[in-house]
Amino acid sequence: PVVVARDLRLEQAFYGTIIHSVSPTEVRVFEKGLVMVGPDGKIALFREHVEKSQVAGILAEFSTGAGSLRIRRLERGQFLIPGFIDTHNHAPQWTQRGTGGGKMLLDWLDEITFPHEARFKDPEYARKAYSSCVDGILKQGTTTASYYGSIHGEATKILADICFEKGQRALVGKCNMDQNSPDFYQEAGAKDSLDATEDFISHVRKLDPAGRSVKPIITPRFAINCDRDLLTGLGKIAAANPDLPIQTHFDEAEDAIQFTRELFHEFSNEADLYEKFGLLNERSILAHCIYLEDYELQRIQELKCGVAHCPVSNTMIGGFLAAPIREYLRRGIKVGLGTDSGGGSSSSIIDVIRQASVVSRAREVATDGADPALTLNELFYLATMGGAQVCGLADKVGSFEEGKEFDALEIHTLGPDAGIIADVEEDDSAEYILEKFLMTGDDRNIKKVYVRGRTVKS
Ligand code: GUN
Ligand code: FE
Repeated sequence: PVVVARDLRLEQAFYGTIIHSVSPTEVRVFEKGLVMVGPDGKIALFREHVEKSQVAGILAEFSTGAGSLRIRRLERGQFLIPGFIDTHNHAPQWTQRGTGGGKMLLDWLDEITFPHEARFKDPEYARKAYSSCVDGILKQGTTTASYYGSIHGEATKILADICFEKGQRALVGKCNMDQNSPDFYQEAGAKDSLDATEDFISHVRKLDPAGRSVKPIITPRFAINCDRDLLTGLGKIAAANPDLPIQTHFDEAEDAIQFTRELFHEFSNEADLYEKFGLLNERSILAHCIYLEDYELQRIQELKCGVAHCPVSNTMIGGFLAAPIREYLRRGIKVGLGTDSGGGSSSSIIDVIRQASVVSRAREVATDGADPALTLNELFYLATMGGAQVCGLADKVGSFEEGKEFDALEIHTLGPDAGIIADVEEDDSAEYILEKFLMTGDDRNIKKVYVRGRTVKS
């Protein structure tokens, strides 16, 4: 079950196999690793190699002695990895997942998504759906999510409250939309939308003043749904709140790109459009990024924007095209993974890892080998450290480092309750077991989820 997170007074230590990424291409496995987590939820100590006989001594030396110390010894087939980071998730679409696949983007929005998201006008519905959503996302090992809410301020406050209560690290955005959607799902105008956004931001700042677990994010759905006054106002909010990230959909589908050009004829591409309105910078999380022109590629690189790669969604709605992730990595552009939950068949980052692998191989073929497929190490990096960079949280999460917060997953691959992971055998190395987990495992293997040291699934 997912449990309500509480602050811990105790110190915790984990001894055994600990795995994380140290660069986009290098995953490190420490079979005798030791992590100690302080009562504040931060990693107080991380040692790559400690003999069993030394563990007690080291812990005694570093423990503050203030409370009790809980030691968890990881057995064979069990290991710790950093929590997964979902850089693009529509929380209101939790209750419509998997429906409407195969439609072109703008039809899918009009026919399936806008009527569904309109239901979140009702706070009671929102509470029920968001509670199920956050439980479900946590259960699948996503310790940090960047959420789009609906257009409704009330419902989106409820989403932020639920993330906070359940202990999920989250960026939460009230979605801005004041044009080109049905009347029943559109804000009255730029002013209403901006006022509701400011009100939402102050709600979240009160909820979590230090922004340690929940932060607001500026969320223009995309330019099609925002008029010039709204985009201008959101750019001003972004300038006045330099700690807040920004998210939008970017160069996702041909029908949307074409319509954007018609609406904003003064711009010949989406990069210039969002840049002009002050929404393109190192805090921007750009979802999809499939059809970038060379100029846009250069611009998002120069402006240090992050890319939320959503391959499950990209192959279910819109035109089924692989984003040029290899090129982004070559240029050192930040890339993370996103479920785009709603626009796809899965809300699990493990599934996104697999689909990212598949579409990268399609891209390798389509480019005659010029864009080699993503490796398993790269995919693991994108799911953890890459996502942390995209969300502006690289100094806090994504890997095990002293001073970072302890957001982690305890993976079990052996025993009767280990799901249907490919059989782990006696002579399997830890690297091989990790590969089996990422390629054949699921949430049944994610036995415990920790955010800031607190157990959020056990
Ligand atoms: N573009 C604008 N809104 C959406 C959405 O909800 N999902 C996806 N995939 N693309 C969008
Ligand atoms: Fe999306």
